[in-house]
Amino acid sequence: MRNAASGILINGEWVEPEATYEVRNPARPTEVVGEFARAGPEHVDAAYRAARDALAGWRRTPAIQRGAILHRAAQLLAERTEDLATAFTREEGKTIAETRVEVARGAQILRYYAGETAQPRGEVHPSGFSGRFLYSVREPLGVVCLITPWNFPVAIPLWKITPALAYGNTVVWKPATITPGCAVGVAEALRDAGVPGGVLNLVTGPASAIGGSLTDHEEVDGISFTGSLEIGRQIQLRAVERGVKVQLELGGKNPVVVLPDADLDQAVEQTVRGAMMSTGQKCTATSRAILVGDGAERFVPRLLERVRALRVGDPLRADVDVGPLASAEQLETVLGYLDVAREEGHELAVGGRRLEEEGEGYFVEPTVYLDVDPASRIGREEIFGPVLGVLRAASLEEALEIANSVEFGLSASIFTRDIREAFQFIDAVEAGVVHVNSETAGAEPQVPFGGVKASSSHSREQGKAAAEFYTRLKTVYLDMPPAEEPGRPPR
Ligand code: UN1
Repeated sequence: MRNAASGILINGEWVEPEATYEVRNPARPTEVVGEFARAGPEHVDAAYRAARDALAGWRRTPAIQRGAILHRAAQLLAERTEDLATAFTREEGKTIAETRVEVARGAQILRYYAGETAQPRGEVHPSGFSGRFLYSVREPLGVVCLITPWNFPVAIPLWKITPALAYGNTVVWKPATITPGCAVGVAEALRDAGVPGGVLNLVTGPASAIGGSLTDHEEVDGISFTGSLEIGRQIQLRAVERGVKVQLELGGKNPVVVLPDADLDQAVEQTVRGAMMSTGQKCTATSRAILVGDGAERFVPRLLERVRALRVGDPLRADVDVGPLASAEQLETVLGYLDVAREEGHELAVGGRRLEEEGEGYFVEPTVYLDVDPASRIGREEIFGPVLGVLRAASLEEALEIANSVEFGLSASIFTRDIREAFQFIDAVEAGVVHVNSETAGAEPQVPFGGVKASSSHSREQGKAAAEFYTRLKTVYLDMPPAEEPGRPPR
């Protein structure tokens, strides 16, 4: 990680910023963890011009050579795991165990797309006419704008940047304001691995100064955004108006359904992981546990026991399970929801308050509400904190009705040993990702990821599905010219 104020990478050079801002440790907000560039519209403009200029050369670079660079970046990232994970924990608050895993996941994504560069890029089709060679080929989309969130500041950028580069696009990347250090670490690994100047450009700083110039720039061919529904919709509307390709990954209100025959240890452990890891700040986090039938009697005590046993505190400590929320703003949002829960009158079983013992840090106790009404705000809205609502259903059908009653549809889990009921759930649940007997969070890089309803823009990221966004198809009808006639002079 760089110590000097940095964060604007244009044409392969770190730009000396005129204005900077401080990033603080959410576990100890008096501690400044770094000072980073506050980009302005002129930097965004320069970044787009650099990306446009670099496009032709990068596109011409054989895909397999692009892949070799991504493979080197995976190695560099892996070598730098300890430094990057430590800086990440101090900047974002995720526990050190989780940030190490996320850096490893970043390297895994890089390796996957390095391999993808050796895969076929098109299809040969039969034609209805003789002598015709008919095929379709994937070309890069062009210059893409990537806007990424703070909750996975290594993995999400890499699952956008890596396919973008593998398929021959050039990038302007705006990371979340509060995690510029992770962005600099990721960009440096790619630059050091040999990504040529202009192919990956980075602009850090608050979106208030550059949001509009980022998404409305004339050089943008595509925008991929992960973040809130509200901002996502604004970006989408503008993009549609301008005919720019857009991809959104937004919120979730993800359910686990626990059937009476579930393995209780497994169901409890996975539910708690899904709800509380990363302090509940995942769009794939479990926020509703829907208990079917009499299993609830046995599930709830074990759940509460497990939640009470979670150790909350300094995320750099190896024995801590749950770190702080990532920012003062996030703390305010979550405390606001704890107030809503009080007003709505849900039964508070554990947690429910800020952890004052941790001083100024943005810590909130892991919290569980029982008998949550599915139609209440706690039952419907994304909280993005360590808060789980327990709901009851008389049957799988009712559980499905509850599961599907929210505006989001990202991921969903069921815990059961009954294969018939598992398939009924898989078939009927409105979610882009379904888990049977595992937590709602987690995404392997080689398979499609994305949601239905308000959770995404009907597109998918990762795996081969990423090509749908980062490439455009060209269909080629190739007919043979007539054969040369003997005796006719060659042209
Ligand atoms: C995961 O569950 O590991 O922002 C990935 C999010 C999702 C990614 C989740 N887009 O939480």
